[in-house]
Amino acid sequence: MKLALRAYDGTDPTIRSIDIKPALIKRQKQLSFTWHFKTRDVVRNHAWDEALVELKGLVGVEFNLAQLFTAEADWSLDFQGKSPRLKQAAPTQKAPASLSHNREKVRALPAAGRAWLRDLGITTADGKVVPGAQDKFRQINRYVEILGPLLKAIPRGKLSKVVDMGAGKGYLTFAVADYLANTLQSEAKTVGVELRPDMVELCNGVAGKAGLSQLSFAQGSIDGFDSAGTSALIALHACDTATDDAIAKGIAAEAELIVVAPCCHKQIRREIETANAPTPLDYLLRHGIFVERQAEMVTDGIRALILEYFGYSTKVFEFISDQHTPKNVLIVGQRNGRRGDPAILDKIKDAKAMFGIRQHYLEGVTGL
Ligand SMILES: C[S@@+](CC[C@H](N)C(=O)[O-])C[C@H]1O[C@@H](n2cnc3c(N)ncnc32)[C@H](O)[C@@H]1O
Repeated sequence: MKLALRAYDGTDPTIRSIDIKPALIKRQKQLSFTWHFKTRDVVRNHAWDEALVELKGLVGVEFNLAQLFTAEADWSLDFQGKSPRLKQAAPTQKAPASLSHNREKVRALPAAGRAWLRDLGITTADGKVVPGAQDKFRQINRYVEILGPLLKAIPRGKLSKVVDMGAGKGYLTFAVADYLANTLQSEAKTVGVELRPDMVELCNGVAGKAGLSQLSFAQGSIDGFDSAGTSALIALHACDTATDDAIAKGIAAEAELIVVAPCCHKQIRREIETANAPTPLDYLLRHGIFVERQAEMVTDGIRALILEYFGYSTKVFEFISDQHTPKNVLIVGQRNGRRGDPAILDKIKDAKAMFGIRQHYLEGVTGL
């Protein structure tokens, strides 16, 4: 039923443990490895023969304890003493009814009974997830799993308005409004800001039908939106510098929480590509793919520094497997009020010099 790998003894300090379970993936019996890292979980599915090869490199090599739970017995293979020890004990876990049952997760936002999921085309009339919308449904739930605790951490009195910048078809905006109203029982408002009038009209219609009275969508651009009174600001895959406009709006409003999943990183890529003076990184930056990867890291690394300068503690992590989308980095800023550290400005200056960047767009819009 489950294999747990514990007592990690490898070289990556962020790895904690792995849980492995059989699962049916696209009707094939596979083994699903959940890698627990310090700040996130990553799921990797393997065919059985491939999984055995993987396990040979892990059990007794990187992990000194393997615990196997079967219906008949619990087994443990312990490499922590002088010689490996295999122990058998009475079973502690009940077998799941079926493999597909094993895969059924308790979702933060279950599919059934949510009119907005149906109206946005994620579920059928009887509350089943539409086959082609499984990934989107998983993503929505993943967002809620991550955002939920962050929103919950905001003191009740300070949680009055969540703004989702570049809301698109509103999947996440609805999920946040639903979570606030039904899980947190909060009266906080949720506003989706979106350029496209057709999306705004559609989303306002669906919100009205779903009875989510605290949710509304406003047509307009992020940089023109009045963000005063925003407690939490979210922007998922708002294009290029629209993410910076969103961060700047969050900083200006002194939002308690700012969460962005950046999209393309064109502004800094252009800066790197057109740098006048040679930089020590020329040998990397003459390759297009490396420029792209560097531009992504440098753009988001400087975004995190600027957030820190304005009094936010930051975390940057992958929030969904890159099997689903390559745009999977999340920057989370939680307000700590410690603004204005000059050492951070020096760091930004050094980073820009190293890559030949004249200005990060976020510097301009935050007045740095
Ligand atoms: C890639 S979609 C993401 C939608 C949604 N956040 C999601 O993750 O499902 C980006 C959306 O941002 C909107 N957008 C881009 N730039 C914007 C701006 N400056 N102001 C308002 N909306 C913008 C686009 O119209 C588009 O609907």
